[in-house]
Amino acid sequence: MDNSGYSQEQRDTIYRVIAERRDVRRGFRPDPVPADVLGRVLAAAHQAPSVGFSQPWDFIMITDRARRERIAALARRHAGEFAADLPGARARAFDQLKIESILDTPVNIVVSCDRTRGGRHTLGRHAQPQTAEFSSVLAVANLWLAARAEGLGVGWVSFFDERELAAELGLPAHLAVIAYLCVGYVTSFAAEPELATAGWARRRPVSWAVHAEEFGHRGMPGEAPVDPLADLIGAITPPDAEAMAAAAERQDRMTKPRGSLGVLEEVSVRLAGLAGSCPPPLPEPACVAVFAADHGVHAQGVSPWPQEVTAQMVANFLAGGAVVNAFAAQAGAEVTVVDVAVAADLEPVPGLLPRKVARGTADFTAGPAMTRDQAMAALVVGAEIARDLVAAGNRCLVTGDMGIANTTASAALICAFTGADPAEATGRGTGIDAATYARKIEVVCRGLARHSPDPADPVGALAAFGGFEHAALAGFILGAAALRVPVILDGVIAGAAALAAVALAPDAIAACFAGHRSAEPGHAVTLSYLGLRPLVDLGLRLGEGTGAVLALPLVQSAARALRDVATFDSAGVADKL
Ligand SMILES: Cc1cc2nc3c(=O)[nH]c(=O)nc-3n(C[C@H](O)[C@H](O)[C@H](O)COP(=O)(O)O)c2cc1C
Repeated sequence: MDNSGYSQEQRDTIYRVIAERRDVRRGFRPDPVPADVLGRVLAAAHQAPSVGFSQPWDFIMITDRARRERIAALARRHAGEFAADLPGARARAFDQLKIESILDTPVNIVVSCDRTRGGRHTLGRHAQPQTAEFSSVLAVANLWLAARAEGLGVGWVSFFDERELAAELGLPAHLAVIAYLCVGYVTSFAAEPELATAGWARRRPVSWAVHAEEFGHRGMPGEAPVDPLADLIGAITPPDAEAMAAAAERQDRMTKPRGSLGVLEEVSVRLAGLAGSCPPPLPEPACVAVFAADHGVHAQGVSPWPQEVTAQMVANFLAGGAVVNAFAAQAGAEVTVVDVAVAADLEPVPGLLPRKVARGTADFTAGPAMTRDQAMAALVVGAEIARDLVAAGNRCLVTGDMGIANTTASAALICAFTGADPAEATGRGTGIDAATYARKIEVVCRGLARHSPDPADPVGALAAFGGFEHAALAGFILGAAALRVPVILDGVIAGAAALAAVALAPDAIAACFAGHRSAEPGHAVTLSYLGLRPLVDLGLRLGEGTGAVLALPLVQSAARALRDVATFDSAGVADKL
Protein backbone atom coordinates (compact mmCIF):
# COMPACT_ATOMS: atom_id res chain seq x y z
CA MET A 1 0.00 0.00 0.00
CA ASP A 2 1.18 3.49 -0.82
CA ASN A 3 2.08 5.32 2.41
CA SER A 4 2.07 8.83 1.06
CA GLY A 5 -0.87 11.23 1.28
CA TYR A 6 -3.53 11.40 -1.39
CA SER A 7 -3.41 13.70 -4.38
CA GLN A 8 -4.85 17.20 -3.98
CA GLU A 9 -7.91 16.21 -5.98
CA GLN A 10 -8.55 13.14 -3.85
CA ARG A 11 -8.09 15.12 -0.64
CA ASP A 12 -10.51 17.74 -1.91
CA THR A 13 -13.06 14.98 -2.47
CA ILE A 14 -12.59 13.58 1.04
CA TYR A 15 -12.96 16.99 2.66
CA ARG A 16 -15.90 17.73 0.38
CA VAL A 17 -17.83 14.67 1.47
CA ILE A 18 -17.12 15.53 5.12
CA ALA A 19 -18.31 19.11 4.63
CA GLU A 20 -21.34 18.17 2.55
CA ARG A 21 -22.61 15.29 4.69
CA ARG A 22 -25.97 16.41 6.04
CA ASP A 23 -28.59 15.07 8.36
CA VAL A 24 -31.54 15.00 5.93
CA ARG A 25 -35.19 15.14 6.89
CA ARG A 26 -36.80 16.77 3.85
CA GLY A 27 -36.88 16.24 0.11
CA PHE A 28 -36.54 12.44 -0.01
CA ARG A 29 -37.44 10.73 -3.30
CA PRO A 30 -39.57 7.59 -3.08
CA ASP A 31 -37.47 5.50 -5.52
CA PRO A 32 -35.91 2.42 -3.94
CA VAL A 33 -32.19 2.21 -3.23
CA PRO A 34 -30.61 -0.54 -5.40
CA ALA A 35 -29.17 -3.47 -3.44
CA ASP A 36 -25.63 -2.93 -4.75
CA VAL A 37 -25.63 0.70 -3.55
CA LEU A 38 -26.87 -0.32 -0.10
CA GLY A 39 -24.26 -3.08 -0.08
CA ARG A 40 -21.43 -0.58 -0.71
CA VAL A 41 -22.65 1.76 2.01
CA LEU A 42 -22.96 -1.09 4.53
CA ALA A 43 -19.50 -2.38 3.61
CA ALA A 44 -18.11 1.11 4.29
CA ALA A 45 -19.84 1.10 7.69
CA HIS A 46 -18.38 -2.32 8.40
CA GLN A 47 -14.84 -0.97 7.89
CA ALA A 48 -15.10 1.37 10.89
CA PRO A 49 -12.53 1.19 13.66
CA SER A 50 -13.68 -0.69 16.77
CA VAL A 51 -12.36 -1.25 20.28
CA GLY A 52 -10.13 -4.33 20.32
CA PHE A 53 -11.37 -4.96 16.74
CA SER A 54 -14.59 -6.20 18.35
CA GLN A 55 -16.84 -4.97 15.49
CA PRO A 56 -19.82 -4.72 17.86
CA TRP A 57 -22.30 -3.49 15.24
CA ASP A 58 -25.12 -5.17 13.35
CA PHE A 59 -27.30 -3.52 10.74
CA ILE A 60 -31.04 -4.20 10.71
CA MET A 61 -32.68 -3.23 7.43
CA ILE A 62 -36.32 -2.16 7.71
CA THR A 63 -38.59 -1.63 4.73
CA ASP A 64 -41.93 -3.06 5.91
CA ARG A 65 -44.50 -0.25 5.94
CA ALA A 66 -46.54 -1.53 8.89
CA ARG A 67 -43.44 -1.88 11.05
CA ARG A 68 -42.28 1.61 10.09
CA GLU A 69 -45.70 2.99 10.98
CA ARG A 70 -45.48 1.44 14.45
CA ILE A 71 -41.97 2.86 14.87
CA ALA A 72 -43.09 6.31 13.63
CA ALA A 73 -45.82 6.27 16.27
CA LEU A 74 -43.19 5.61 18.98
CA ALA A 75 -41.15 8.59 17.71
CA ARG A 76 -44.20 10.86 17.60
CA ARG A 77 -45.03 10.04 21.21
CA HIS A 78 -41.52 10.96 22.39
CA ALA A 79 -41.43 14.12 20.29
CA GLY A 80 -44.73 15.14 21.91
CA GLU A 81 -43.31 14.57 25.39
CA PHE A 82 -40.19 16.58 24.52
CA ALA A 83 -42.28 19.45 23.09
CA ALA A 84 -44.47 19.57 26.20
CA ASP A 85 -41.39 20.42 28.25
CA LEU A 86 -40.13 23.29 26.07
CA PRO A 87 -40.43 26.99 26.94
CA GLY A 88 -42.83 28.94 24.67
CA ALA A 89 -40.57 30.24 21.90
CA ARG A 90 -38.68 26.95 21.70
CA ALA A 91 -41.93 24.99 21.47
CA ARG A 92 -43.05 27.17 18.54
CA ALA A 93 -39.70 26.68 16.79
CA PHE A 94 -39.80 22.91 17.44
CA ASP A 95 -43.21 22.79 15.83
CA GLN A 96 -41.68 24.01 12.56
CA LEU A 97 -38.88 21.43 12.54
CA LYS A 98 -39.06 18.08 10.84
CA ILE A 99 -37.34 15.59 13.09
CA GLU A 100 -37.82 12.26 11.32
CA SER A 101 -38.46 10.75 7.90
CA ILE A 102 -39.31 7.20 8.92
CA LEU A 103 -42.15 6.89 6.41
CA ASP A 104 -40.73 9.22 3.72
CA THR A 105 -37.68 7.04 3.05
CA PRO A 106 -37.64 3.65 1.29
CA VAL A 107 -35.34 2.05 3.84
CA ASN A 108 -34.52 2.49 7.52
CA ILE A 109 -31.31 1.08 8.96
CA VAL A 110 -30.82 0.35 12.65
CA VAL A 111 -27.24 0.15 13.88
CA SER A 112 -26.93 -1.90 17.05
CA CYS A 113 -24.14 -2.64 19.51
CA ASP A 114 -23.18 -5.90 21.14
CA ARG A 115 -21.30 -4.85 24.27
CA THR A 116 -20.21 -8.43 24.92
CA ARG A 117 -18.81 -9.31 21.50
CA GLY A 118 -15.20 -10.47 21.71
CA GLY A 119 -15.45 -11.61 25.32
CA ARG A 120 -14.01 -10.14 28.48
CA HIS A 121 -10.48 -9.69 27.15
CA THR A 122 -11.46 -7.32 24.37
CA LEU A 123 -8.52 -4.96 24.13
CA GLY A 124 -9.34 -1.49 25.47
CA ARG A 125 -12.93 -2.14 26.54
CA HIS A 126 -11.83 -3.22 29.99
CA ALA A 127 -11.24 0.30 31.34
CA GLN A 128 -13.87 2.00 29.19
CA PRO A 129 -16.88 -0.22 28.51
CA GLN A 130 -18.53 2.64 26.61
CA THR A 131 -15.97 2.20 23.82
CA ALA A 132 -18.23 -0.56 22.49
CA GLU A 133 -20.95 2.02 21.77
CA PHE A 134 -18.37 4.48 20.43
CA SER A 135 -17.32 1.85 17.90
CA SER A 136 -20.86 1.41 16.60
CA VAL A 137 -21.16 5.19 16.28
CA LEU A 138 -18.04 5.18 14.09
CA ALA A 139 -19.78 2.67 11.84
CA VAL A 140 -22.66 5.17 11.57
CA ALA A 141 -20.20 7.91 10.59
CA ASN A 142 -18.72 5.76 7.82
CA LEU A 143 -22.22 4.87 6.58
CA TRP A 144 -23.27 8.53 6.60
CA LEU A 145 -20.25 9.66 4.56
CA ALA A 146 -20.50 6.82 2.04
CA ALA A 147 -24.22 7.51 1.64
CA ARG A 148 -23.50 11.17 0.88
CA ALA A 149 -21.07 10.18 -1.83
CA GLU A 150 -23.78 7.91 -3.32
CA GLY A 151 -26.32 10.77 -3.29
CA LEU A 152 -28.26 9.16 -0.45
CA GLY A 153 -29.65 11.26 2.36
CA VAL A 154 -29.49 9.94 5.93
CA GLY A 155 -31.53 11.21 8.87
CA TRP A 156 -30.71 10.04 12.41
CA VAL A 157 -33.77 9.72 14.67
CA SER A 158 -33.28 9.46 18.42
CA PHE A 159 -36.78 10.14 19.74
CA PHE A 160 -37.12 6.64 21.13
CA ASP A 161 -37.15 4.73 24.32
CA GLU A 162 -34.27 2.44 23.47
CA ARG A 163 -35.78 -0.74 24.93
CA GLU A 164 -39.18 -0.10 23.35
CA LEU A 165 -37.51 0.16 19.97
CA ALA A 166 -35.32 -2.89 20.67
CA ALA A 167 -38.49 -4.92 21.40
CA GLU A 168 -40.07 -3.82 18.09
CA LEU A 169 -36.92 -5.05 16.28
CA GLY A 170 -36.66 -8.34 18.15
CA LEU A 171 -33.22 -7.39 19.51
CA PRO A 172 -31.91 -9.75 22.20
CA ALA A 173 -31.32 -8.10 25.60
CA HIS A 174 -27.52 -7.92 25.14
CA LEU A 175 -27.85 -5.74 22.04
CA ALA A 176 -28.36 -1.99 22.29
CA VAL A 177 -29.84 0.30 19.65
CA ILE A 178 -27.22 2.88 18.71
CA ALA A 179 -28.82 4.63 15.75
CA TYR A 180 -32.06 4.68 13.82
CA LEU A 181 -31.30 5.94 10.31
CA CYS A 182 -33.76 6.89 7.56
CA VAL A 183 -32.12 6.45 4.14
CA GLY A 184 -33.17 7.43 0.64
CA TYR A 185 -32.25 9.43 -2.48
CA VAL A 186 -32.72 13.18 -2.24
CA THR A 187 -33.09 15.89 -4.83
CA SER A 188 -30.52 18.11 -3.11
CA PHE A 189 -28.42 18.44 0.02
CA ALA A 190 -28.69 21.61 2.10
CA ALA A 191 -25.49 23.62 2.48
CA GLU A 192 -26.00 24.04 6.23
CA PRO A 193 -27.65 21.94 8.97
CA GLU A 194 -31.39 22.55 9.05
CA LEU A 195 -31.10 23.37 12.74
CA ALA A 196 -28.74 26.22 11.81
CA THR A 197 -30.92 27.65 9.03
CA ALA A 198 -33.97 27.38 11.30
CA GLY A 199 -32.07 29.35 13.97
CA TRP A 200 -32.28 26.49 16.47
CA ALA A 201 -28.51 26.31 17.00
CA ARG A 202 -25.32 27.70 15.46
CA ARG A 203 -22.01 26.12 14.53
CA ARG A 204 -19.29 26.83 17.10
CA PRO A 205 -16.09 28.06 15.46
CA VAL A 206 -13.40 25.36 15.45
CA SER A 207 -11.09 27.68 17.43
CA TRP A 208 -13.44 27.37 20.44
CA ALA A 209 -12.93 23.64 20.44
CA VAL A 210 -9.14 23.44 20.23
CA HIS A 211 -7.01 23.62 23.41
CA ALA A 212 -3.23 23.55 23.72
CA GLU A 213 -1.95 21.07 26.33
CA GLU A 214 -4.58 21.79 28.96
CA PHE A 215 -8.28 22.47 28.80
CA GLY A 216 -8.97 26.18 28.61
CA HIS A 217 -5.74 27.15 26.79
CA ARG A 218 -7.44 27.74 23.49
CA GLY A 219 -5.56 28.22 20.28
CA MET A 220 -5.37 26.74 16.81
CA PRO A 221 -2.12 25.01 15.81
CA GLY A 222 0.40 27.53 14.51
CA GLU A 223 -1.50 30.45 16.00
CA ALA A 224 -0.78 32.38 19.18
CA PRO A 225 -2.70 31.05 22.18
CA VAL A 226 -6.02 32.80 22.62
CA ASP A 227 -6.12 35.33 25.46
CA PRO A 228 -9.82 34.82 26.26
CA LEU A 229 -10.44 38.22 27.82
CA ALA A 230 -8.50 40.21 25.22
CA ASP A 231 -10.22 38.18 22.50
CA LEU A 232 -13.61 38.93 23.95
CA ILE A 233 -12.92 42.64 24.40
CA GLY A 234 -11.47 42.84 20.88
CA ALA A 235 -14.68 41.39 19.44
CA ILE A 236 -16.85 44.13 20.95
CA THR A 237 -17.46 46.99 18.56
CA PRO A 238 -19.80 50.01 18.59
CA PRO A 239 -23.41 49.65 17.44
CA ASP A 240 -24.16 50.01 13.74
CA ALA A 241 -25.09 53.68 13.16
CA GLU A 242 -26.72 52.96 9.81
CA ALA A 243 -29.06 50.30 11.23
CA MET A 244 -29.93 52.64 14.09
CA ALA A 245 -30.74 55.45 11.70
CA ALA A 246 -32.88 53.11 9.59
CA ALA A 247 -34.78 51.99 12.69
CA ALA A 248 -35.39 55.55 13.88
CA GLU A 249 -36.56 56.51 10.43
CA ARG A 250 -38.88 53.50 10.23
CA GLN A 251 -40.34 54.32 13.65
CA ASP A 252 -41.29 57.72 12.21
CA ARG A 253 -43.04 56.11 9.24
CA MET A 254 -44.95 53.48 11.25
CA THR A 255 -48.74 53.83 11.49
CA LYS A 256 -48.78 55.61 14.85
CA PRO A 257 -48.02 59.12 16.01
CA ARG A 258 -44.26 59.78 16.03
CA GLY A 259 -42.67 58.94 19.37
CA SER A 260 -45.84 57.36 20.73
CA LEU A 261 -44.06 54.13 21.71
CA GLY A 262 -41.92 56.15 24.09
CA VAL A 263 -38.97 54.25 25.53
CA LEU A 264 -39.75 51.22 23.36
CA GLU A 265 -38.78 53.21 20.27
CA GLU A 266 -35.35 53.75 21.75
CA VAL A 267 -35.18 50.04 22.64
CA SER A 268 -35.96 49.07 19.05
CA VAL A 269 -33.34 51.46 17.69
CA ARG A 270 -30.74 50.05 20.08
CA LEU A 271 -31.67 46.46 19.12
CA ALA A 272 -31.21 47.35 15.45
CA GLY A 273 -27.83 48.96 16.18
CA LEU A 274 -26.70 45.91 18.09
CA ALA A 275 -27.80 43.44 15.43
CA GLY A 276 -26.54 45.64 12.60
CA SER A 277 -29.85 45.22 10.77
CA CYS A 278 -33.24 46.88 10.59
CA PRO A 279 -35.51 45.32 11.60
CA PRO A 280 -33.40 43.37 14.10
CA PRO A 281 -34.10 39.67 14.71
CA LEU A 282 -36.73 38.98 17.36
CA PRO A 283 -35.00 38.51 20.71
CA GLU A 284 -36.31 34.97 21.18
CA PRO A 285 -35.77 32.30 22.31
CA ALA A 286 -34.47 33.77 25.56
CA CYS A 287 -32.58 32.11 28.37
CA VAL A 288 -32.05 33.28 31.94
CA ALA A 289 -28.69 32.24 33.35
CA VAL A 290 -28.76 32.31 37.15
CA PHE A 291 -25.15 32.52 38.37
CA ALA A 292 -24.86 31.21 41.93
CA ALA A 293 -21.99 31.78 44.34
CA ASP A 294 -21.21 32.26 48.02
CA HIS A 295 -19.50 35.12 49.81
CA GLY A 296 -16.88 35.12 52.55
CA VAL A 297 -18.09 38.54 53.70
CA HIS A 298 -21.20 36.75 54.98
CA ALA A 299 -19.09 36.09 58.13
CA GLN A 300 -19.39 39.81 58.94
CA GLY A 301 -23.09 39.41 59.71
CA VAL A 302 -24.34 41.42 56.72
CA SER A 303 -27.32 39.17 55.96
CA PRO A 304 -29.97 37.60 58.16
CA TRP A 305 -29.97 34.48 55.97
CA PRO A 306 -27.65 31.52 56.51
CA GLN A 307 -25.16 30.88 53.73
CA GLU A 308 -26.69 27.45 53.04
CA VAL A 309 -29.67 29.22 51.48
CA THR A 310 -27.61 29.78 48.30
CA ALA A 311 -27.38 26.02 47.65
CA GLN A 312 -30.96 25.46 48.80
CA MET A 313 -32.26 28.07 46.37
CA VAL A 314 -30.21 26.52 43.56
CA ALA A 315 -32.10 23.29 44.24
CA ASN A 316 -35.34 25.26 44.18
CA PHE A 317 -34.49 26.85 40.77
CA LEU A 318 -33.69 23.43 39.39
CA ALA A 319 -36.93 21.98 40.73
CA GLY A 320 -38.80 24.86 39.06
CA GLY A 321 -40.12 26.24 42.35
CA ALA A 322 -38.64 29.77 42.52
CA VAL A 323 -40.21 33.05 41.41
CA VAL A 324 -37.81 33.27 38.46
CA ASN A 325 -39.14 29.91 37.23
CA ALA A 326 -42.73 31.16 37.41
CA PHE A 327 -41.90 34.42 35.62
CA ALA A 328 -39.78 32.63 33.00
CA ALA A 329 -42.55 30.11 32.34
CA GLN A 330 -44.95 33.02 31.82
CA ALA A 331 -42.53 34.80 29.46
CA GLY A 332 -41.61 31.60 27.59
CA ALA A 333 -37.94 31.71 28.62
CA GLU A 334 -35.63 28.91 29.69
CA VAL A 335 -33.91 28.95 33.09
CA THR A 336 -30.41 27.59 33.46
CA VAL A 337 -28.41 27.64 36.68
CA VAL A 338 -24.64 28.04 36.79
CA ASP A 339 -22.68 26.97 39.87
CA VAL A 340 -19.73 29.38 39.75
CA ALA A 341 -18.79 29.20 43.42
CA VAL A 342 -21.44 27.70 45.66
CA ALA A 343 -19.87 26.59 48.97
CA ALA A 344 -21.50 23.18 48.79
CA ASP A 345 -21.38 20.11 46.58
CA LEU A 346 -24.34 20.21 44.21
CA GLU A 347 -25.97 17.12 42.73
CA PRO A 348 -25.63 16.95 38.94
CA VAL A 349 -29.13 17.50 37.58
CA PRO A 350 -30.40 18.66 34.17
CA GLY A 351 -30.40 22.44 33.99
CA LEU A 352 -27.38 22.86 36.29
CA LEU A 353 -24.13 23.89 34.64
CA PRO A 354 -21.30 22.91 36.99
CA ARG A 355 -18.58 25.57 36.56
CA LYS A 356 -17.31 25.88 40.12
CA VAL A 357 -14.21 28.07 40.27
CA ALA A 358 -14.01 27.96 44.11
CA ARG A 359 -16.21 27.34 47.13
CA GLY A 360 -17.19 30.97 47.67
CA THR A 361 -15.04 34.08 48.02
CA ALA A 362 -12.82 35.01 50.95
CA ASP A 363 -14.01 37.75 53.32
CA PHE A 364 -13.07 41.02 51.58
CA THR A 365 -12.63 42.83 54.87
CA ALA A 366 -9.71 40.50 55.64
CA GLY A 367 -8.07 40.30 52.19
CA PRO A 368 -8.95 40.02 48.51
CA ALA A 369 -12.19 38.10 47.88
CA MET A 370 -10.52 36.15 45.08
CA THR A 371 -7.20 35.96 43.32
CA ARG A 372 -6.85 37.68 39.96
CA ASP A 373 -6.66 34.25 38.34
CA GLN A 374 -9.94 33.27 39.96
CA ALA A 375 -11.60 36.49 38.82
CA MET A 376 -10.34 35.83 35.28
CA ALA A 377 -11.56 32.23 35.42
CA ALA A 378 -15.03 33.38 36.49
CA LEU A 379 -15.11 36.03 33.72
CA VAL A 380 -14.29 33.33 31.19
CA VAL A 381 -16.97 31.02 32.64
CA GLY A 382 -19.57 33.74 32.10
CA ALA A 383 -18.41 34.49 28.57
CA GLU A 384 -18.45 30.81 27.63
CA ILE A 385 -21.93 30.34 29.06
CA ALA A 386 -23.09 33.27 26.90
CA ARG A 387 -21.41 31.71 23.88
CA ASP A 388 -22.90 28.27 24.50
CA LEU A 389 -26.39 29.65 25.05
CA VAL A 390 -26.19 31.66 21.84
CA ALA A 391 -24.78 28.65 19.96
CA ALA A 392 -27.75 26.70 21.31
CA GLY A 393 -29.99 29.14 19.46
CA ASN A 394 -30.88 31.77 22.07
CA ARG A 395 -31.25 35.30 20.69
CA CYS A 396 -31.68 37.04 24.03
CA LEU A 397 -29.80 36.48 27.27
CA VAL A 398 -31.15 37.40 30.67
CA THR A 399 -29.05 37.78 33.81
CA GLY A 400 -29.92 36.06 37.06
CA ASP A 401 -28.02 35.62 40.30
CA MET A 402 -28.14 33.88 43.63
CA GLY A 403 -25.67 34.45 46.45
CA ILE A 404 -26.43 35.18 50.07
CA ALA A 405 -24.58 38.43 50.97
CA ASN A 406 -24.11 39.47 47.35
CA THR A 407 -25.69 42.90 47.81
CA THR A 408 -22.73 43.72 50.08
CA ALA A 409 -20.21 42.82 47.37
CA SER A 410 -22.36 44.74 44.88
CA ALA A 411 -22.31 47.88 47.03
CA ALA A 412 -18.52 47.74 47.28
CA LEU A 413 -18.17 47.28 43.51
CA ILE A 414 -20.58 50.14 42.81
CA CYS A 415 -18.57 52.43 45.07
CA ALA A 416 -15.34 51.28 43.42
CA PHE A 417 -16.55 51.95 39.88
CA THR A 418 -18.78 55.00 40.33
CA GLY A 419 -17.11 56.68 43.30
CA ALA A 420 -20.44 56.62 45.16
CA ASP A 421 -20.51 56.95 48.92
CA PRO A 422 -21.05 53.59 50.74
CA ALA A 423 -24.05 55.02 52.56
CA GLU A 424 -25.61 55.89 49.22
CA ALA A 425 -24.79 52.59 47.48
CA THR A 426 -25.57 50.16 50.29
CA GLY A 427 -29.10 48.85 50.67
CA ARG A 428 -31.06 46.59 52.93
CA GLY A 429 -30.78 43.57 50.62
CA THR A 430 -33.16 40.82 51.64
CA GLY A 431 -34.36 42.93 54.56
CA ILE A 432 -32.17 43.82 57.54
CA ASP A 433 -32.64 45.79 60.75
CA ALA A 434 -31.02 49.17 61.45
CA ALA A 435 -28.07 47.69 63.35
CA THR A 436 -27.24 45.23 60.58
CA TYR A 437 -27.63 47.97 57.99
CA ALA A 438 -25.16 50.19 59.82
CA ARG A 439 -22.75 47.26 60.05
CA LYS A 440 -23.16 46.55 56.34
CA ILE A 441 -22.20 50.12 55.45
CA GLU A 442 -19.25 49.92 57.79
CA VAL A 443 -18.15 46.62 56.18
CA VAL A 444 -18.27 48.21 52.72
CA CYS A 445 -16.25 51.20 54.03
CA ARG A 446 -13.65 48.89 55.54
CA GLY A 447 -13.37 46.93 52.32
CA LEU A 448 -12.89 50.08 50.26
CA ALA A 449 -10.28 51.40 52.68
CA ARG A 450 -8.44 48.10 52.67
CA HIS A 451 -8.27 47.62 48.91
CA SER A 452 -8.33 51.19 47.49
CA PRO A 453 -9.70 49.74 44.24
CA ASP A 454 -8.64 51.28 40.96
CA PRO A 455 -11.62 51.62 38.58
CA ALA A 456 -9.11 51.47 35.72
CA ASP A 457 -8.30 47.89 36.81
CA PRO A 458 -11.70 46.18 36.64
CA VAL A 459 -10.31 42.67 37.17
CA GLY A 460 -8.51 43.94 40.27
CA ALA A 461 -11.73 45.47 41.63
CA LEU A 462 -13.64 42.24 40.98
CA ALA A 463 -10.89 40.26 42.69
CA ALA A 464 -10.91 42.62 45.68
CA PHE A 465 -14.61 42.34 46.47
CA GLY A 466 -16.01 39.39 44.53
CA GLY A 467 -18.26 37.77 44.04
CA PHE A 468 -17.71 35.01 41.62
CA GLU A 469 -21.20 35.61 40.25
CA HIS A 470 -20.34 39.26 39.59
CA ALA A 471 -17.23 38.30 37.64
CA ALA A 472 -19.13 35.60 35.72
CA LEU A 473 -21.97 38.01 34.99
CA ALA A 474 -19.45 40.57 33.70
CA GLY A 475 -18.09 37.86 31.36
CA PHE A 476 -21.65 36.91 30.38
CA ILE A 477 -22.39 40.53 29.43
CA LEU A 478 -19.14 40.79 27.46
CA GLY A 479 -19.95 37.50 25.73
CA ALA A 480 -23.39 38.77 24.73
CA ALA A 481 -21.90 42.04 23.46
CA ALA A 482 -19.24 40.21 21.44
CA LEU A 483 -21.95 38.08 19.79
CA ARG A 484 -24.21 41.12 19.38
CA VAL A 485 -27.06 39.52 21.29
CA PRO A 486 -29.07 41.65 23.73
CA VAL A 487 -28.63 40.95 27.43
CA ILE A 488 -31.37 42.06 29.80
CA LEU A 489 -29.92 43.05 33.14
CA ASP A 490 -31.67 42.28 36.40
CA GLY A 491 -31.05 44.39 39.48
CA VAL A 492 -28.18 45.60 41.60
CA ILE A 493 -25.98 42.50 41.22
CA ALA A 494 -26.18 42.56 37.42
CA GLY A 495 -25.72 46.33 37.53
CA ALA A 496 -22.50 46.01 39.53
CA ALA A 497 -21.31 43.35 37.08
CA ALA A 498 -22.20 45.60 34.13
CA LEU A 499 -20.03 48.36 35.64
CA ALA A 500 -17.09 45.95 35.52
CA ALA A 501 -17.96 44.80 31.98
CA VAL A 502 -18.25 48.35 30.67
CA ALA A 503 -15.00 49.32 32.41
CA LEU A 504 -13.34 46.49 30.48
CA ALA A 505 -15.08 47.23 27.15
CA PRO A 506 -17.05 50.50 27.00
CA ASP A 507 -18.94 49.41 23.85
CA ALA A 508 -20.46 46.49 25.78
CA ILE A 509 -23.12 48.95 26.95
CA ALA A 510 -24.75 48.63 23.51
CA ALA A 511 -25.84 45.08 24.35
CA CYS A 512 -27.23 45.97 27.80
CA PHE A 513 -30.91 46.59 28.45
CA ALA A 514 -31.89 47.46 32.01
CA GLY A 515 -34.76 45.15 32.85
CA HIS A 516 -35.92 47.02 35.90
CA ARG A 517 -34.98 49.40 38.68
CA SER A 518 -34.55 47.52 41.92
CA ALA A 519 -35.43 48.94 45.31
CA GLU A 520 -31.73 48.73 46.25
CA PRO A 521 -30.38 52.29 46.30
CA GLY A 522 -27.09 51.27 44.68
CA HIS A 523 -28.99 50.20 41.61
CA ALA A 524 -30.29 53.67 40.82
CA VAL A 525 -26.73 54.98 41.16
CA THR A 526 -25.54 52.29 38.77
CA LEU A 527 -28.22 52.86 36.15
CA SER A 528 -27.62 56.57 36.01
CA TYR A 529 -23.84 56.01 35.82
CA LEU A 530 -24.35 53.57 32.93
CA GLY A 531 -26.97 55.80 31.29
CA LEU A 532 -29.49 52.95 31.14
CA ARG A 533 -33.19 53.48 31.49
CA PRO A 534 -35.01 50.70 33.37
CA LEU A 535 -38.03 49.22 31.63
CA VAL A 536 -39.91 48.14 34.75
CA ASP A 537 -40.03 49.88 38.11
CA LEU A 538 -42.09 47.84 40.54
CA GLY A 539 -40.08 48.06 43.73
CA LEU A 540 -38.77 44.50 43.29
CA ARG A 541 -35.73 43.49 45.33
CA LEU A 542 -35.60 39.74 44.85
CA GLY A 543 -32.82 39.13 42.36
CA GLU A 544 -32.73 35.70 40.65
CA GLY A 545 -33.37 37.48 37.33
CA THR A 546 -37.01 38.21 38.17
CA GLY A 547 -37.06 41.89 37.18
CA ALA A 548 -35.21 41.20 33.94
CA VAL A 549 -37.60 38.41 32.94
CA LEU A 550 -40.55 40.76 33.44
CA ALA A 551 -38.96 43.13 30.93
CA LEU A 552 -38.39 40.40 28.33
CA PRO A 553 -41.81 40.78 26.62
CA LEU A 554 -41.21 44.55 26.43
CA VAL A 555 -37.88 44.12 24.64
CA GLN A 556 -39.45 41.51 22.35
CA SER A 557 -42.45 43.72 21.63
CA ALA A 558 -40.17 46.63 20.73
CA ALA A 559 -38.43 44.46 18.12
CA ARG A 560 -41.68 42.99 16.83
CA ALA A 561 -43.30 46.38 16.40
CA LEU A 562 -40.40 47.56 14.29
CA ARG A 563 -40.73 44.42 12.17
CA ASP A 564 -44.50 43.99 11.88
CA VAL A 565 -46.16 47.40 12.06
CA ALA A 566 -47.16 48.85 8.66
CA THR A 567 -45.83 52.18 7.47
CA PHE A 568 -48.07 55.06 6.38
CA ASP A 569 -47.16 54.50 2.74
CA SER A 570 -47.49 50.67 2.78
CA ALA A 571 -50.87 50.74 4.58
CA GLY A 572 -52.27 53.72 2.69
CA VAL A 573 -52.86 55.61 5.94
CA ALA A 574 -52.63 59.39 5.78
CA ASP A 575 -49.82 60.91 7.84
CA LYS A 576 -50.36 63.89 10.15
CA LEU A 577 -50.60 67.14 8.18
C1 LIG B 1 -26.60 11.04 17.93
C2 LIG B 1 -27.47 11.86 17.02
C3 LIG B 1 -28.84 11.83 17.17
C4 LIG B 1 -29.68 12.61 16.36
N1 LIG B 1 -31.05 12.57 16.52
C5 LIG B 1 -31.84 13.32 15.71
C6 LIG B 1 -33.27 13.28 15.79
O1 LIG B 1 -33.86 12.55 16.58
N2 LIG B 1 -33.99 14.03 14.95
C7 LIG B 1 -33.41 14.84 14.05
O2 LIG B 1 -34.11 15.53 13.33
N3 LIG B 1 -32.06 14.91 13.93
C8 LIG B 1 -31.27 14.16 14.73
N4 LIG B 1 -29.91 14.21 14.59
C9 LIG B 1 -29.32 15.06 13.54
C10 LIG B 1 -28.72 16.33 14.09
O3 LIG B 1 -29.75 17.24 14.39
C11 LIG B 1 -27.79 16.89 13.02
O4 LIG B 1 -26.75 15.99 12.83
C12 LIG B 1 -27.20 18.24 13.41
O5 LIG B 1 -28.18 19.19 13.39
C13 LIG B 1 -26.08 18.66 12.49
O6 LIG B 1 -26.52 18.72 11.17
P1 LIG B 1 -25.72 17.96 10.02
O7 LIG B 1 -25.71 16.50 10.42
O8 LIG B 1 -26.50 18.21 8.77
O9 LIG B 1 -24.35 18.53 10.00
C14 LIG B 1 -29.09 13.41 15.37
C15 LIG B 1 -27.70 13.42 15.20
C16 LIG B 1 -26.89 12.64 16.00
C17 LIG B 1 -25.40 12.65 15.77
